[in-house]
Amino acid sequence: MKQLQRSAAAALCLATFAGGACAQTVNVICSVQAEWCNVISTVYARTTGVKINMALKGSGEALAQLIAEKDNPKTDVWFGGTGDPHLQAAEQGLTLEYKSAALPQLHAWAQQQARQSGYKTVGIYSGPLGFGYNPELLAKKKLPVPKTWADLLKPEYKGDIQVANPASSGTAYTMIATLVQLMGEDKAFDYLKALHRNVGQYTRSGTGPIKAVARGETAVSISFVHDGPGEKMQGFPVETITPADGTGAEIGSMSIIKGARNLDAAKKFYEWALTPSAQELGAANKQFQLPSNVNAKLDPRIPDFKKIKFIDYDYAKYGASAERRRLIARWEKDVNSLPR
Ligand code: G6P
Repeated sequence: MKQLQRSAAAALCLATFAGGACAQTVNVICSVQAEWCNVISTVYARTTGVKINMALKGSGEALAQLIAEKDNPKTDVWFGGTGDPHLQAAEQGLTLEYKSAALPQLHAWAQQQARQSGYKTVGIYSGPLGFGYNPELLAKKKLPVPKTWADLLKPEYKGDIQVANPASSGTAYTMIATLVQLMGEDKAFDYLKALHRNVGQYTRSGTGPIKAVARGETAVSISFVHDGPGEKMQGFPVETITPADGTGAEIGSMSIIKGARNLDAAKKFYEWALTPSAQELGAANKQFQLPSNVNAKLDPRIPDFKKIKFIDYDYAKYGASAERRRLIARWEKDVNSLPR
């Protein structure tokens, strides 16, 4: 079947080559998990004949690449990853103002993300920050399930908590911004210093910690809770919980790069990515973020936002370049430099 579909796409390609449709490619940085990125590539090429050159990068790494290639952009679209660095890219003039006709079909939070960036980015999904844990490992070590942020500081978790590094990972930056909003900045940094003593490893990617939990390499992670069910579906013992004292959420975003060489193709991909069917590819491939298009079907494994205590996350403030840079630098200096 796959073979047939591929040859059909190739035939379509040959038939339309004179019109240039098949010569089209679009260069995408993809900041969600590899399974979803790969499916997007395959489905998009099959249904449109347009080839995607896909590079997989964490949110912070993607932003660093876009800054580096500012004068000679090699990327057309940045798909996914936490919204704060997309807002930073917008502020730095790295992304293009573009208003999709699909905006009214999107949840208010996704439209708000677009508005506050001057339409230089848009929300494509949302997901709550929380903890992942391995119930078997916790039971073996006689450790309780952590229920609040304060619980993670208990000495019995020493070496058993993983979180990503905020310089490369948007997940970890969302954690810092969430704690600063929950506790006030100085208290949040005292908290992060205390947490540092319990952290066994800071990973490069935001999903590294929950994968380590699933595989029994660490008992607890600080992760987006929508990354839990996908691991569980592979048979791993992993559960998630959101802190009872409140948490933040990401607005996973998408942006067209200013100076994109394949601008038409970029716009077509962007429009496609906002359709319900494209957004449903996430859950179909074990990625359980809440889609931004209100018409996308909801998988029951998508976290129920109504049951979670959220802070009123200030996306504009924590997506501002100076603030993001300052908080990450403070974390490097005050926290990451300390011995464990
Ligand atoms: C995973 C999550 C996404 C999130 C991304 C951020 O893929 O499923 O919802 O946007 O991580 O990745 P990062 O490596 O930047 O933390």
